[in-house]
Amino acid sequence: MSLQQFVAALDDLADDAKRAFDAAADPDTLEEARIKFLGAKKGLLKSIQKQIGSVGKENMPTAGQRLNEVKSLIEQTFQATQDRLTGDAVDGADPTFDPTLPGIAPEIGHVHPITQTIDHLMEIMGRMGFEAAEGPEVEDPHHNFVALNIPEDHPARDPLDNFYLSVGDGQASRFVEGTRLLRSQTSTVQIRVMEQRQPPIRIISLGRVYRPDAPDATHFPMFHQMEGLMVDRNVTMANLKTVLRIFATNYLGDDVEIRFRPSFFPFTEPSVEVDFLWDGNWVEFGGAGMVDPNVFKAVGYDPEQVSGFAFGLGVERLCMRRHGITDIRDLYSGDLRFLRQF
Ligand code: DAH
Repeated sequence: MSLQQFVAALDDLADDAKRAFDAAADPDTLEEARIKFLGAKKGLLKSIQKQIGSVGKENMPTAGQRLNEVKSLIEQTFQATQDRLTGDAVDGADPTFDPTLPGIAPEIGHVHPITQTIDHLMEIMGRMGFEAAEGPEVEDPHHNFVALNIPEDHPARDPLDNFYLSVGDGQASRFVEGTRLLRSQTSTVQIRVMEQRQPPIRIISLGRVYRPDAPDATHFPMFHQMEGLMVDRNVTMANLKTVLRIFATNYLGDDVEIRFRPSFFPFTEPSVEVDFLWDGNWVEFGGAGMVDPNVFKAVGYDPEQVSGFAFGLGVERLCMRRHGITDIRDLYSGDLRFLRQF
């Protein structure tokens, strides 16, 4: 074999090896190719090396140098391929990956203003010793009405004012046995808590309620209420007013004043509407009162032994006042340009 033939064989081998490595799609195939070309005993490079004597004594140094060059070239190609397959590719090794391009920033989530408000209200009420309680949004008439002293013929039970759910025969009706409805008020949670526990009780419940109102700037078929209930011996209306005043000044500001207006709710006696003086206007935020003896009886409490107050405030109304939001629909439009402001 002449020196020329020897060098040509080495060059061909380098080309073949590169092609074989490039074609390898997984580490196993690559290893097979490595043994074929670089194997210490039967590798193709080895078999060319064995013929080095045939180039003649005077050509040996050149042939040896060439052999070493090709060997390290094939080894480098092998290493680059292995890096590509195992994901260790350095800059430029993978033509489909450009490490100099800017990354795609992940979208950072944002807490909805109503959820922020709920957290804030729980924090304020928590400092006054009220713990959070929960109840289901799909309710039965007993918890939504009966135990709250709302009789069968009361207008609050009208299908036009409630979302009755279809049960059994598929009819959505207040009169079907076992009927369910989306709760229209969080006062249901008062009953659920008192059924489970004995006084003293000091809870708030923040959650969704549902009424079939056409959406406008101040109405939405789903909204949130903050229900409060305190039951103990000798709880009075003065306690109620104090708690609500402390709440209002903490949430809306030190200069907020509170006003009670006589009203009626079946589950409280006496009952009041709760107004806060805010920016020079009296604004109604909800209702309150002293828990009606019939409600205590419905949960097995003795009205001669305990007394309590309850209140229900509109969470959207509180949130909107505090943040200067004028249309409740903006809260539920899903428009991130609006929601990101809070
Ligand atoms: N549940 C009443 C409503 O949705 C609000 C309310 C009024 C709750 C008086 C109370 C209360 O706990 O005592 O309109």
